[in-house]
Parts: sequence; C-alpha cells; structure tokens
Amino acid sequence: MPVDRRRIEARVRLNRLAIGGWSAQTLFAANRLGVFDLLCDGRALTAAEVARELGTEEDSTARLLGALAALDLVEHRDEQFCNSRAAEDFLVSGRPESLATWVALIGDWNQTFAQLGESVRTGEPAEVPEEHLGRSPEYTRRFIIGMHDYAIGPGRELARHLDLEGRRRLLDPGGGPGTYSILLAEANPGLTCTVFDLPEVVEIAREVIAEHDLEDRVSTAAGDYHSDEFPTGYDVALVSNTLHQEDWDTCVAILRKAHDALEPGGLAVVQAMFLNERGDGPLWPALHNLLMLLVYRGGRAYSVEQTFRMLEEAGFQHPEIHRMSPFNAGSFVTATRA
Ligand SMILES: C[S@@+](CC[C@H](N)C(=O)[O-])C[C@H]1O[C@@H](n2cnc3c(N)ncnc32)[C@H](O)[C@@H]1O
Repeated sequence: MPVDRRRIEARVRLNRLAIGGWSAQTLFAANRLGVFDLLCDGRALTAAEVARELGTEEDSTARLLGALAALDLVEHRDEQFCNSRAAEDFLVSGRPESLATWVALIGDWNQTFAQLGESVRTGEPAEVPEEHLGRSPEYTRRFIIGMHDYAIGPGRELARHLDLEGRRRLLDPGGGPGTYSILLAEANPGLTCTVFDLPEVVEIAREVIAEHDLEDRVSTAAGDYHSDEFPTGYDVALVSNTLHQEDWDTCVAILRKAHDALEPGGLAVVQAMFLNERGDGPLWPALHNLLMLLVYRGGRAYSVEQTFRMLEEAGFQHPEIHRMSPFNAGSFVTATRA
C-alpha cells in the first residue's frame, strides 16, 4: 500500500494532542516539587542529588528529569541536570517575570478541566468561584498572583499600544493584582490609578503595588462590581480580562457603572482574549471559553462585535478594536463617553 503522508501526519498530530496533558502534568509536578527553583542560577545536580534535596524517590526523580529534558525544560549534561534557558527565565519563583504561580494555577484548573464532559452535558460549572475570590486564602492568592504573572507580558504590550496622552485618572474595575494599573502608571508619569476589586483581592493588590513603590499613584478601592457603585471622576476606565466571568446583562451593567465613573469625554478600554464571530477560534480564546464554562456560571468568551454592542448598550460611543502583536492572545477595544 502506498504511504499516505497526510494520514500519517494526522495520526501523529492526534496522538500528540492526546498525550498533550501528560506534558502539562510533567510541568505542573516539577513546578510543584520545586525542581526549577532548585536548579536555578546554573546549579547542575545529578538525579540522586535532586532527589535528596527535594525529598523524592531517586528513580522516579530521574524519570521526571528525563521527561523535563525531552520537553526542553531542563538540560541534561553528563550525569547532571540544570534549568533550560526558558525555565531559568520564566519558571523560577519570585523572579520579576516568573510564570511559576500562573503555571500552578493552570495546574489547579487542569483538575477542573477533567470535568469538562460533565459540564458540557449539564451546562453547569464544575467549580465554586467564591473559593478563589476570597473564601480560600491560598487559592485566592494563587489566582491573583497567577494573574499577575500572566499579565506582566501582555500588560507591557498594552502600555506600549494604549495612548493615554493627557489622561490623568484611571479606574481599573476587576483590576486583581493591579498589574495593568502599575504598568500603565509606570509608562504614563502623569497618571494615577484605582484598582477596584473584592476586599480579599485588594489586600493582595496592595502588596504588589508596594513591591513596585507605586503607593502614591496606584490606590485600591474594595467593592463588589455586582452590588457597589464605582468611585467617580475618572477619565479612563480599564476593564481587563474581567467580562468573560459574567453573562451579557452583568457585563453591560459593569460597563454602565464604568460609564458613570467617567467624566464626559472619558475613555473606556476593554481588554480581552476575543473569540472570533463564529466562536471557533483563535485557539486560546476557544479553550478559554471552555474554562469559563467550567469556572463561572454565565461566564463566556465574547467577540469584538459583541463587546462593541455591550459598550453601546452601556452608553459608550465610537467603539474601535486595537490589535497587538501576534504573540499576544489579547487585544483591546476602546470607546468614549459622550
Ligand atoms: C481574570 S481577573 C483579571 C485581573 C486583571 N484585570 C487582569 O487583567 O489581569 C478578574 C478579576 O475580577 C475580579 N472580580 C471577580 N468578581 C468580582 C466582583 N464581584 N467584584 C469585583 N471584582 C471581581 C477578580 O477578583 C479578579 O481580580
């Protein structure tokens, strides 16, 4: 029989997809066990030494390190292992650009994702979001610091693309750790920002703001965007990666509060991982749309067109889309208050 290259490639691709979760689990386990923190700063250790330091079983540790080498997360030279460049740059905890807490959070959500079939069958979420929105201090911290880890890269890009010339006061509802406010304040010396979020969350935001020495220009306001009004007198309102947690009517209600928080001529900025109009891509938003099904009742990914309509329903005018680099899953929409 002649070799059908397309069939072989499809089979290989499917198999790679089927075992994709194993690669992710290998990363989560190494992150949780502290492998990348142990092997940082060029420290090279044998599998036996790694096992001794981590208190793990030696042969299992050697297998884990072998798989991490196959995933290019560690380098294997002679009998020793050290972090790869990518692990050194992004997986050592506590570093300014570390993604370690984000990876741990995705690890939590991987357990949740295992229940996808059931959620698709019933339409019900698999999580109780209150747990990571204040009820469990550890989970809340992992969620909020995980958001911070993730937001550093896209936040820097937003700060480069978003023209805030002449704007003075920015409100950041659902601002979480305050990453966007911090980066926008750093990029715009005349700007002061207010991070509005749930009480347990703004406590964490205050720590992050203090680490950046920005307490004089980035403040916090504790509140619930469902039941509390927003503070007023702003000329920019940034709603970043927050609407996907809510159903349509709640999104419009949040945007209406943002509208009322702005002075005439004020600018609304909605940043999100926008789904295309058919709901079938790009990949990140399409998968994120499933995560929202699993985590938030009523949560979903929205398209640019839907976001325009929400903004208009909330009273804004002239919605416009702004794309960032192809490396960024997010882009942003702006609109103005008359
Ligand atoms: C996915 S995070 C986005 C954080 C940040 N804006 C960013 O883009 O990185 C969503 C934020 O909405 C906040 N949030 C959820 N429910 C809220 C509520 N009822 N009132 C205020 N904030 C809420 C969460 O605490 C979280 O910080």
